[in-house]
Amino acid sequence: MYKIAVAGTGYVGLVAGVCFAEVGHQVTCVDIDEKKVDLMKSGVSPIYEAGLEELMQMNYAAGRIEYTTDYKQAYRDADAIFIGVGTPEQPDGSANLSYIATVARQIAENIEKDCLVVVKSTVPVGTNDKVEQFIQDFLVNDVKVEVASNPEFLAQGSAVHDTLYAERIIIGTESKWAEGLLKKIYEPFHLPIVAVNRRSAEMIKYASNDFLALKISYMNDIANLCELVGADIQDVARGMSFDERIGSKFLNAGIGYGGSCFPKDTKALEYIAKQNGYELKTVKAAIDVNKDQKTLLYKKASKRLITFNGLKVAVLGLTFKPGTDDLREAPSLDNVPLLLEQGADIYAYDPVGAENFAKLYPQGKNGKGSITYVGNVEEALEEANVCFVFTEWGEIKAVTPADYKKLMRTPLVFDGRNLYGVYVMGEAGVEYHSVGRQTSAAGRSRNQSEEPVKDETKLQSIGS
Ligand code: UDX
Repeated sequence: MYKIAVAGTGYVGLVAGVCFAEVGHQVTCVDIDEKKVDLMKSGVSPIYEAGLEELMQMNYAAGRIEYTTDYKQAYRDADAIFIGVGTPEQPDGSANLSYIATVARQIAENIEKDCLVVVKSTVPVGTNDKVEQFIQDFLVNDVKVEVASNPEFLAQGSAVHDTLYAERIIIGTESKWAEGLLKKIYEPFHLPIVAVNRRSAEMIKYASNDFLALKISYMNDIANLCELVGADIQDVARGMSFDERIGSKFLNAGIGYGGSCFPKDTKALEYIAKQNGYELKTVKAAIDVNKDQKTLLYKKASKRLITFNGLKVAVLGLTFKPGTDDLREAPSLDNVPLLLEQGADIYAYDPVGAENFAKLYPQGKNGKGSITYVGNVEEALEEANVCFVFTEWGEIKAVTPADYKKLMRTPLVFDGRNLYGVYVMGEAGVEYHSVGRQTSAAGRSRNQSEEPVKDETKLQSIGS
């Protein structure tokens, strides 16, 4: 059992802290926000994450985790201090390291015994070297301190599971002491550990995230071509997935990747390359494809309709993915302003993201249009002229083709997540536009997993 301090209680810090406590370590989570600390002490998680609150409460009751703003006390005699503060993107694409620097200085000025500082935040290659030097420069007491890199691979919505059952733990160290201590800290997790040097560990994080971003952008690029040549991206992805070298995950075409990692980490690596006089062409391509893909549905709908002015527009899903209330880089944020500019009256539904969205776009009149937040899918769809699906929440997947036909004034659906079979929607009388597939009205190629259309006369279009 080790005494661990965690700096920052965002997704990375809080989940790491709770999981360290869960396996038996003595954890103190530090945050500068007093309100947040009080909330956590009362057993409430400041972030929406399945299973997290239960673990917070259990470990708090067992005395294995505490929350504080008092970093001096927390860092003073810690065996290891994990840094999980944010590294937000700056306008030029580089990562803002000011939060890391603040924590590093607090550590240097307060540790009273030998300590391993572990950077979990995603940082540019070489940052850990600088953090170590920075701490040495400001060190007050005569103690040994080293910095290790331990990048985080959790996905939002499954963060606790991803941490407790991670596919690998990456540890980047420059000494046997640091490597040995980190291995011991992770021993109770019983997970595969990959030990490398610090710079390689930093790079593994970017290379992994950017590879996944590339995979998604590649599928989106191919999807757009599929539409033009009459192929179906879902059949294509299924056919590709049997090749183990390709794999079956992250092949879903859609309206671009969002969230706090892929957009930021692709731009950061491109920036790092540029700083080193190198052009990272593949990652640049992923960024370009993603930018265009985000507004794909708006562009499709603009071609189909002469105006959005005065139309009731149902928006299903606002968050960047299901299972989170996070809106960062969500496709809804690219499309909603365009729709409002065009005078749309939006009725938006999201099971958990609406509150955050309303902070950016308050309910009521907004520019030429308006936005109303509703409590269920039916209210959004009732008498709507057009519907956009931005997030694949379970509640939204549960809407049937017949529901769209029955509830909407004109059953015209633009689906950014390919939730329905093209022909099933066509058969139900819904004009259905999705990603990388034909529209239901076109009715040419049949998706192999669907029933063929029986009666094409049932196809409806807006205004019918
Ligand atoms: C991601 C990584 O998965 C995680 O390992 C890393 O630590 C942080 O970034 P996260 O951003 O939480 O996690 O979500 P993820 O589930 O990976 O999805 C990212 C984006 O890609 C979402 O916008 C999602 O909709 C999109 N996506 C994902 C697709 O468009 N198609 C896919 O096939 C998979």
